[in-house]
Amino acid sequence: MNKGYILAIDQGTTGSTVLVFDHDGIARGRAYREFQQYYPKPGWVEHDAQMIWSVTHQVVQEALNRADILPQHIVGIGIANQRETTLLWDRETGEPVHRAIVWQDRRAAGICETLREEGHEATFRDKTGLVCDPYFSGTKVRWLLDNVSGLRERAERGELAFGTIDSWLVHKLTGGRVHVTDVSNASRTLMYNIHRLEWDQELLDLLRVPAGILPEVKSSAEVFGETDPEAFFGARVPVAGIAGDQQAALFGEACHGEGMAKNTYGTGSFLLMNTGTQPVASQHGLLSTIAWRIGDEPVEYALEGAIFVTGAAVQWLRDELNIIDDAADTERMALSLSGNDNVYFVPALTGLGAPHWDPYARGTLLGVTRGTTKAHIARAVLESIAYQTRDIVEIMVDESGIPLKELRADGGGAVNTFLMQFQADTLGVPVKVPRITETTALGAAYLAGLATGFWKDRAEIDAKWQLAQCYQPGMPEADRTALYRRWHRAVELSKAWDA
Ligand code: G3P
Repeated sequence: MNKGYILAIDQGTTGSTVLVFDHDGIARGRAYREFQQYYPKPGWVEHDAQMIWSVTHQVVQEALNRADILPQHIVGIGIANQRETTLLWDRETGEPVHRAIVWQDRRAAGICETLREEGHEATFRDKTGLVCDPYFSGTKVRWLLDNVSGLRERAERGELAFGTIDSWLVHKLTGGRVHVTDVSNASRTLMYNIHRLEWDQELLDLLRVPAGILPEVKSSAEVFGETDPEAFFGARVPVAGIAGDQQAALFGEACHGEGMAKNTYGTGSFLLMNTGTQPVASQHGLLSTIAWRIGDEPVEYALEGAIFVTGAAVQWLRDELNIIDDAADTERMALSLSGNDNVYFVPALTGLGAPHWDPYARGTLLGVTRGTTKAHIARAVLESIAYQTRDIVEIMVDESGIPLKELRADGGGAVNTFLMQFQADTLGVPVKVPRITETTALGAAYLAGLATGFWKDRAEIDAKWQLAQCYQPGMPEADRTALYRRWHRAVELSKAWDA
């Protein structure tokens, strides 16, 4: 029997969650805190990286306290992070040189347009598996170097370090000694060649990013370094797992076999299908991305559909429209109606991601009549989450040639019974919710646990996945088709609004 615990940090877009897992994969302590979002201009989203660190550090302490576990009893730390969010810091002082540009931020749209007009889109797609969209880190770095006075010169002199939030947390945890990222995060930067497994000089030249600012790329499960006792409550603990949060969730859902897929219903929703040791190239707006690499085993890949706004639309109902008090209200409101009465909402609040990739699309509410109520709007928001997921699944099945037998669901939205049932209905396949829905943190823990020998192998991890609830599809085919057809009309109407 293994002694000790694994600590998992899930550093997400709106907050940091920390869980302490025992050897059975049971969470012994959990803590969560939100942090401030900055919206300096329409379409811009920023984070204060020092605040991310201080909130995360606090949450680590709270989780340890709740679990009643000393930091010395942690045998490994795993990190899962909001991906693509871009930061530059001063190598000498360790201080960020600007606020982090969040993945949702659209400010690099013009840079992407130019790259496309110059005919580089296929080069980026072939080498990185991604599309030219301001979502990814490379164009955000370019924006910073072009627009913030002095940064380009400092970057060229080797004074700056670039990192996504995983790199930043490792930097802080190790007292500034380690500058790394893992393959799954590197694969979201538009600068990393997912076939050759290296930073790609041609892409760096196109983006005008000096190679000297980049972190070393490691696997997702290995010892990256030890915590500085000052940063980790007096203890030296190996940081041993890193993955982008969506890849971590795929791992935590035990989707280890080719063709297995999960959808995480968070701020956005990210549907990933494991495609094994070969990347599947998408022609229709899905991303081909690195899932993970365990130690020196071969890299594994995933097909991904990135939907930017799902849970964020529910937050918008709560925080901006004030028509709900709590996300859970949407379930009751949606169930109070027998149908959607033709009210549709396209949550293109930060443009549209996969498969449309339209940074200029905007949120669109359609079919409103004198009888439309708050409940219709709440239902339209939940339905939009399920339709967007179906948009992805249809292409994924087509391009991978692998039929979807079931979808594993996790994240905050997985507790919404209306959403889960409607998802099964619109997809026509069972939707399975596991006992532990915090699969992102669990995946990070599994990676760190494998690297430190806390868990033996993947078979041991697979055996821990347990079903909590299975939603079977039940909607008549004619209804499925009719609802979905109207959804497509609504999506078309939302496009290019802000162009
Ligand atoms: O690609 C962005 C994604 O990693 C953000 O995830 O959970 O913070 O919404 P989340």
